[in-house]
Amino acid sequence: MSTPPAKRATTVYLYELAWILPSIAIPVGMLAALAVTAFGAGIHLPSVEGRVPATQVAQHPPFDAPGVKQTGPGQYEVVMTSQIWAFAPSEIRLPAGSTVTFVTTSKDVVHGLLIPRAHVNVMLLPGQISRVTARFEKPGEYAMFCHEYCGIAHHTMWGKIIVEPRS
Ligand code: CUA
Repeated sequence: MSTPPAKRATTVYLYELAWILPSIAIPVGMLAALAVTAFGAGIHLPSVEGRVPATQVAQHPPFDAPGVKQTGPGQYEVVMTSQIWAFAPSEIRLPAGSTVTFVTTSKDVVHGLLIPRAHVNVMLLPGQISRVTARFEKPGEYAMFCHEYCGIAHHTMWGKIIVEPRS
């Protein structure tokens, strides 16, 4: 009568295996997803694109002339500065289907640029240039917010992008 202990041992072994295998497969799967998106699809954090003197942002190109510029068919560049407590420009108009590269920095303290509907999320550090590209497919209003606490009126620091239907 020695079979029952052997059967219990097998069950315990299978339970352990049921936990061990996913605990290996999940991190391996996550690493694989990271490698494919980073090196295959080229998805990465917005990178440092250079600097301008933090105290003289407004005097340095391209920030001496903020605004929207068409760079090709359906392609736009938005040069934008941030300061307490506003973006400049704070209202941007674009046709639907535009691909837009934002070139931005801060004139004073740390700000952020969050455009939830366009999946834009960057920090704006004084004098450090941030460059991020997004597509605006659907007509409508896209709100943009400062999402780094920047002082007493932080909550009033927002703007909008109006995407107009193609005529
Ligand atoms: Cu700018 Cu918060």
